Amino acid sequence: MYDLIVIGAGPGGYVCAIRAAQLGLKVACVEGRETLGGTCLNVGCIPSKALLHASHMLHEAHENFDKMGLVAPEVTVDWSKMQGYKAETVGGNTKGIEFLFKKNKIDWLKGWASIEAPGRVKIGDTVHEAKNIVIASGSVPASLKGVEVDNDAGVIVDSTGALSLPKIPKSMVVIGAGVIGLELGSVYARLGAEVTVVEYLDVIAPGMDGEVQKQFQKVLVKQGLKFVLGAAVQGATADNDKATVSYALKKDDSQHKLEAEVVLLATGRRPYADGLGLDKLGVEVTDRGFIKVDGHWATSVKGIYAIGDAAPGPMLAHKAEDEGMAVAEVIAGKHGHVNYSVIPGVIYTTPEVASVGLTEEAAKAEGRKVKVGKFPFMGNARAKAVMQADGFVKLIADAETDRVLGCHIIGPNAGEMIHEICVAMEFGASAEDVALTCHAHPTTSEAVREAALACGSGAIHV
Ligand code: NAI
Repeated sequence: MYDLIVIGAGPGGYVCAIRAAQLGLKVACVEGRETLGGTCLNVGCIPSKALLHASHMLHEAHENFDKMGLVAPEVTVDWSKMQGYKAETVGGNTKGIEFLFKKNKIDWLKGWASIEAPGRVKIGDTVHEAKNIVIASGSVPASLKGVEVDNDAGVIVDSTGALSLPKIPKSMVVIGAGVIGLELGSVYARLGAEVTVVEYLDVIAPGMDGEVQKQFQKVLVKQGLKFVLGAAVQGATADNDKATVSYALKKDDSQHKLEAEVVLLATGRRPYADGLGLDKLGVEVTDRGFIKVDGHWATSVKGIYAIGDAAPGPMLAHKAEDEGMAVAEVIAGKHGHVNYSVIPGVIYTTPEVASVGLTEEAAKAEGRKVKVGKFPFMGNARAKAVMQADGFVKLIADAETDRVLGCHIIGPNAGEMIHEICVAMEFGASAEDVALTCHAHPTTSEAVREAALACGSGAIHV
């Protein structure tokens, strides 16, 4: 009898299993994939970051080497070797989780689980018993009516197929200007494909700060990506080695078509709990399929919890990790907590885009009076030295109390810099607290301090 069986070994599940084992529980984790790590490590965050890094290096070689006096024969792409580098990155990380499981004495139950009853997890013909069950079964790409994905054929693909295309396409249409569309669209644009992104909304990167969205689009257009905004994709058909995407422009309902060698469908993900038997158990789900949970991640059935993409909230690996740690604490009789108002979001393009807390638009919609401190990377020596000065930091603080409410960055290392503001927000810091903190020179983080200074008596380098 286990104290806890976790279903799914993605960032939510494996972190939950490790924390529970550290707290002295007897733990098993069920995973049907051949390797641990879930979508994130196998076909998501990690492989995409390998391709983003490699293609960024190529971009540097083509665009900036000469400017820095670096003379090299033309740098070209060996696609199969790049795929090998990606596989090695993934392999190193998934093996790392296997090592951590062994170190923490967590049993990996291989196979696909269903829940027979509270406390009973069935894999194949074997039933394993546990006092508690945590569902961390994640999410899968959402489908779109009229678009049939076939990752093996490699013509109309989702994010999984786009990571392993047989060759670099000459042209690509990306459906959806969200995180996946922009990251993978960037990869193939840098590798030489003509990339057109078709997006339903009138902006890219939905949910991000409005000024960031505009600047981001400008930068990506400079990098060669094309955008068709305000366009509802109605279907895509594959014909041998090319595909046709049809869409209607919202403003006048006019119908249009685009052809490309590859179409990437990136219109969101849906929670995945297929085969677990939730219906029979009476575990309640929302109308969009997310497993309903209370403030302690307990589902409507006693002894069964749910976390990560399968539960409500942003579909982010780090949100799942936080919930994994917190629910393990709760099950061990301690106090698990997640602060949902301080969960950063990062888009790993170049430049990176990062955000935490309220946007200016959201703060105003809530009727809050805010101060906005903005600082451009053009005034930051380090960003100029690395030729990435096309962005800014925007800090939002309460107009009366000066308390930091949010931060939005487009620029080099944005995904790292944002954490300074996450910590500031967790400690209830004011913009002045950030402004009075000494920041090393020359770093891109100085731009965060300057934005904080801009909330008060003014930035220096403007
Ligand atoms: P998303 O929800 O970020 O973006 C989907 C986009 O598709 C939206 O802008 C939407 O308006 C558009 N769309 C929907 N239907 C459409 C239609 N018929 N025609 C044209 N456009 C349409 O979804 P995405 O990019 O697929 O990502 C899925 C999830 O994975 C997200 O929750 C994301 O946060 C997460 N993710 C996070 C990453 C990160 O943190 N760096 C990386 C990759 C994924």
